[in-house]
Amino acid sequence: MQYFDNYQINFEKRNPAKGVDPLFYKRWSPRSFKKNEIPEDVLLAIFDAARWAPSCYNEQPWVFLTSSGKKDFDLFLSLLLESNQTWACNCSLIGFILGRKKFTANKKDNPWSSFDCGAAWMSMTLQARKYGLYTHGMAGIKKEEIYKTMDIPKDDYKVICGFTLGIIEFPDNLSPELSAREQPSERLSLKKIWKKGGLK
Ligand SMILES: Cc1cc2nc3c(=O)[nH]c(=O)nc-3n(C[C@H](O)[C@H](O)[C@H](O)COP(=O)(O)O)c2cc1C
Repeated sequence: MQYFDNYQINFEKRNPAKGVDPLFYKRWSPRSFKKNEIPEDVLLAIFDAARWAPSCYNEQPWVFLTSSGKKDFDLFLSLLLESNQTWACNCSLIGFILGRKKFTANKKDNPWSSFDCGAAWMSMTLQARKYGLYTHGMAGIKKEEIYKTMDIPKDDYKVICGFTLGIIEFPDNLSPELSAREQPSERLSLKKIWKKGGLK
């Protein structure tokens, strides 16, 4: 199965170096989605891809809490900040990424938990792109309500962020402000992020 974008996306602002795989620079975070169910086997591959991410001591501290079909979508949606609800309502699935706070082996704090969860999130995101699907990360979530509603023990898990997964749609269902932002964004120059030999 492969989902296709139904309009021409302009990647003009993106200037990848020669050799960079389009999987990376053609990933972006749309807000305009078409509300369709994603088949279970596709979801399975997407979340399984996350399983193969590297992690400190192979702890695999990530947990993906997701809506399942239409059943509890509205509950997950209600746990996003309203600014995100306005567009996330049209995606296919909403999820929250939890990181286990402690190492299983010795119960000590795991300072790399969020870092590892980020790697797992990128793995699932890129697997989603392989199917032509898109994700959109969200810091704008109601964390305290998520802990409460989902019965998440605070001592054991950190709610890191939310995300949507969906099928991209021509952005005429968005407000004019959001519609104007509906394009792949720029990046810092490579010089700014890759320092050979030291920070200065
Ligand atoms: C952890 C995280 C939190 C984010 N929070 C939000 C959010 O609450 N609302 C939103 O519209 N976009 C959010 N974004 C999307 C970012 O703004 C977006 O990834 C960034 O501008 C880069 O653009 P691109 O993903 O299209 O390449 C978030 C992304 C990440 C990774």
